[in-house]
Amino acid sequence: MEREKVIVELKNVNKVYGGSNHVVRDLNLEVYEGEFLTLLGSSGCGKTTTLRMIAGFEEPTGGTITVEGESVSEKEPFERDVNTVFQSYALFPHMTVFDNVAYGLRMKKTAKGEIKERVMHMLELVQLGGFERRYPSQLSGGQKQRVAIARALINRPKVLLLDEPLGALDLKLRKQMQMELKRLQRKLNITFIYVTHDQEEALTMSDRIAIMNEGVLEQVGTPTEIYEAPATRFVATFIGETNLFEGCVKETSAHHVSVVVESGELRCRAQGFEKGEMVAISVRPERMKYSAEPVEGYSVRARVKETVYVGSVLKAIVVLPNGNEIKIERLAGQKLPPDGEVYIYWDNGDGKLLHLMDQVFYRTIESVKLA
Ligand SMILES: Nc1ncnc2c1ncn2[C@@H]1O[C@H](COP(=O)(O)OP(=O)(O)OP(=O)(O)O)[C@@H](O)[C@H]1O
Ligand SMILES: [Mg+2]
Repeated sequence: MEREKVIVELKNVNKVYGGSNHVVRDLNLEVYEGEFLTLLGSSGCGKTTTLRMIAGFEEPTGGTITVEGESVSEKEPFERDVNTVFQSYALFPHMTVFDNVAYGLRMKKTAKGEIKERVMHMLELVQLGGFERRYPSQLSGGQKQRVAIARALINRPKVLLLDEPLGALDLKLRKQMQMELKRLQRKLNITFIYVTHDQEEALTMSDRIAIMNEGVLEQVGTPTEIYEAPATRFVATFIGETNLFEGCVKETSAHHVSVVVESGELRCRAQGFEKGEMVAISVRPERMKYSAEPVEGYSVRARVKETVYVGSVLKAIVVLPNGNEIKIERLAGQKLPPDGEVYIYWDNGDGKLLHLMDQVFYRTIESVKLA
């Protein structure tokens, strides 16, 4: 996708509650027009707080947030081109589906005929044609959620903020709604900023994912970038499964780094690391290779502990001399190591070298000093 216009921009945004609870830290983020961007992170990492600041419900303690170049704090909520869908649908229980969706247009004093036309069209879009006379109590969870989405979209906002909108749905309905939301977003070409703590949901729906950890934005990238080239240890372990080898840099050359780990020595293609630095190497289970003989550049020996079949995927667990377990994964039909001893290695480029002392580490040190 071509990257042109920035529609939402967060610059050095901070949020501190009660003078000392620093829940969002120096957050910088550009959201492009028409993209599906997901804020992903575990519970309490600051996703809702960030979304509420973009919506203008919450003031940043520091920094600025603009939508189309205008500061969000200078506009009244109803003047903004931003709308929000919350996890709890918050439908008006005494109003029909039609009236719930029409609400925003009536507030704007839109002509009656136009309201009817737009509401009916929107209900078709969310596949609720024929439901307009029902009340929320007569709808299923998924149908209520669709009404909430239709109500948020009826005013044609430029940006739609969605805070775990599918959280209350069962798995099957959730999967179906993921597809529908994605289809709707493409069709209407509205910028979505979507909050979830579900990595699979983020990977399947998003153009880009922004990963938050304890108030810090750790990485922003396409699902492939995030999976294939995690920038931090947190990202590597939060998205998908991985094997981590912790160690220390022994030598660096122009494009390679030699790392000593407890069980041997490993070579990685990487730049920007220093001799003596603590590092971790992340290797995805499906990229892990094995050999009966040592392979040049790798000297980590392991013992095969067990092999499991999980439907279409085969997994082997091998144990390093220090007791750490390493996962190897293959698709059904491919081979796993036989029982006994193997040497593990990987293709140059499949081992991602990560700085162990990341932002969160330095922040911990900082807060210890302050205490
Ligand atoms: N109004 C508030 N006053 C004080 N602390 C708050 C307030 N709102 C949120 N917090 C704190 O800020 C942190 C971030 O909360 P936030 O709701 O943004 O997390 P989240 O990432 O959305 O989590 P979840 O996935 O559980 O919804 C939490 O530690 C929370 O307790
Ligand atoms: Mg939240």
